[in-house]
Amino acid sequence: AAVEMGSHVLLMGASGSGKTSMRSLIFSNNPASLTARLGATIDVEQNHVRFLGDLILNLWDCGGQDSFMDTYLSTQRATIFQQVGVMIYVFDVESREMNKDLEYYRDCLGWLRHYSPEAAVFLLVHKMDLVREPRQHTFEKKKQELQDASGDTEMTVFGTSIYDESLYRAWSNIVHTLIPNASILSKHLTTFGAACSATEVILFEKTTFLVIATSSSGSESPSSSSDFGDTSSIQLDGKRYERTSELIKAFKHSCSRVREDFRSLEMELNDFTAVLDEMTRNTYVMIIVHDPTIGLFIFGPRSQRLANGQG
Ligand code: GTP
Repeated sequence: AAVEMGSHVLLMGASGSGKTSMRSLIFSNNPASLTARLGATIDVEQNHVRFLGDLILNLWDCGGQDSFMDTYLSTQRATIFQQVGVMIYVFDVESREMNKDLEYYRDCLGWLRHYSPEAAVFLLVHKMDLVREPRQHTFEKKKQELQDASGDTEMTVFGTSIYDESLYRAWSNIVHTLIPNASILSKHLTTFGAACSATEVILFEKTTFLVIATSSSGSESPSSSSDFGDTSSIQLDGKRYERTSELIKAFKHSCSRVREDFRSLEMELNDFTAVLDEMTRNTYVMIIVHDPTIGLFIFGPRSQRLANGQG
């Protein structure tokens, strides 16, 4: 999948807002409990992660006390804000310096508009787990505040936390928008799924295991359910993508510990079969089948088999 606009993804926000934790959770396998041990981000040059082949994720601090970052941001403006496809700006929901945070955000937004007018903007109201219930009210208030600060710039706001699936969801949404032909992909996945009587077909990004696209499953679009056989009776878990991603990442991690390459996976459980394999250089495809009369096979020399929990 080619990337249309700039190839840089900026991850910005005040010091301590949670950028580093977020990055390590999405781009490696660090559990949330480990993030408290991360030191403050100092070396800007280290904050490069590549994903989806050509995309480069850059982490930038925008904070009052961080004079080093402050000067860096103002002297390297053109470098930072050019060729940006997406800016993700993180706000600590509990921040005691919201006015200052907003001031920095408006500055960054202005530079972004100047150097990369086409870039998409995503705002994360982060650490939502710290907010007392009901959380929706606090979120709506913050969202309004952020919309006001953004003027007529189009942007999307997500409430996130590293302690639940909200972060993974927000990032999946972001990655999805980076794929210019996402809707065509979904259509092809749906056709492919119908051809092999699959309940669902999911395309994951290879580095992060974020969801790029899915087939429209029987339960989500009843009109097409006949293509899938009787899938209307199958209950699909609302958190299935997050859980799958977590499991695969953990399994990949185990494979690397025993110095085995992870390439593909086949699982036969009581009521369904799942196979996962490399699709392109940057993606994995997963096929879920509930129909017991359908056999799924991965053709490849080194597929790992996890049958009935024996693996
Ligand atoms: P700098 O490295 O200084 O730029 O900060 P940063 O934006 O990278 O923040 P960092 O990831 O270092 O997180 C700061 C603190 O916030 C850490 O102690 C994290 O454990 C904590 N934190 C990050 N995300 C969350 C979250 O969703 N909820 C809660 N409660 N704490 C979080």
